[in-house]
Amino acid sequence: MAKYELLKQEGRAKRGVFHTIHGDIQTPVFMNVGTVAAIKGAVSTNDLKNIKCQVELSNTYHLHVRTGDKLIKEVGGLHKFMNWDRPILTDSGGFQVFSLAGLRKIKEEGVYFNSHIDGRKIFMGPEESMQIQSNLGSTIAMAFDECPPALAERRYVSDSVARTTRWLERCKKEMARLNSLEDTVNKEQLLFGINQGAVYDDIRIDHAKRISEMDLDGYAVGGLAVGESHEQMYGVLDAVVPHLPVNKPTYLMGVGTPANILEGVERGIDFFDCVYPSRNGRHGHVYTNQGKINLFNKKYEKDMRPIEEGCGCPACQSYSRAYIRHLLKAKEMLGMRLCVLHNLYFYNTMMEEIRTSLEEGRFKSYKEEKLYNMGQINR
Ligand code: GUN
Ligand code: ZN
Repeated sequence: MAKYELLKQEGRAKRGVFHTIHGDIQTPVFMNVGTVAAIKGAVSTNDLKNIKCQVELSNTYHLHVRTGDKLIKEVGGLHKFMNWDRPILTDSGGFQVFSLAGLRKIKEEGVYFNSHIDGRKIFMGPEESMQIQSNLGSTIAMAFDECPPALAERRYVSDSVARTTRWLERCKKEMARLNSLEDTVNKEQLLFGINQGAVYDDIRIDHAKRISEMDLDGYAVGGLAVGESHEQMYGVLDAVVPHLPVNKPTYLMGVGTPANILEGVERGIDFFDCVYPSRNGRHGHVYTNQGKINLFNKKYEKDMRPIEEGCGCPACQSYSRAYIRHLLKAKEMLGMRLCVLHNLYFYNTMMEEIRTSLEEGRFKSYKEEKLYNMGQINR
């Protein structure tokens, strides 16, 4: 049975460990995004072990419309399919339907939409989302939610959040049913609820209180990093996180930059995920402790230093900025791959440093130092 242990707190920042049937997750943690059960940039699950990845994240929607969750269940579930034995979190599909699918219609029962692959009509509601995630057998399933646009009107947001709460009740019921079936891939599958409410603090707080009473395995804050300012995002976290159970993991969905993560940790977040490290890596943008650099820049042409001196990643262990720049310019896949490996290693290492600083009661000064070095704040 999954259990979250709060090991240490500094202000609201949490250092915890989440025990799951696929192993322990040390938090705060960054989950490495593999939307279609693959980390973009030709990164294998073997690579993930070498770059300190604890949790892989995949998407219900993408795996449902291509290859199919039924096929994945038949061959033994997602862990076996992609040869990854550590925790996997699957997002519910709600968010991807809203951002990717063409014409869509939101009804009480769920969402009608057209597949972005072949245009075929699909229906997904809370039960369907749970069934797909159960077929995949992920460690953690996310509730099926609606993510209203950041600038949506108050009335729309409040109706949407009420529906998301009703959907959550249906998710919980369906998950319990699926976990009790004989041929379920992962009978211990966990369910995280998702807080919504755009930038309306009172709606968010009411919703947080409601879902906290439902005794779920964890709680996410969704609907952020969708167009609001960083200050608004931090404001929402300041308002909401104190109303989520401190003895359960918290997850800030789709966030973010290293600075966003440091601010999220300070406000009590355990889990993060974001496409930035892999997306930036594919474009030759790599993170260093002095900030992000663009390897396409001519000034790296003869730079025989690694991306980051002292970095233990597979790119920095063997190759120079000059060589990786050459690979990128020649459009060789290895160039992208090395940049993505470095960026994910950078994120995962930052999380490790955050955890150590929390253990030693010096997170606040670690954060200041990191932001200062990356050129994010002045002193
Ligand atoms: N990923 C980023 N934001 C969200 C959200 O609000 N809901 C879901 N399901 N996934 C997300
Ligand atoms: Zn490196």
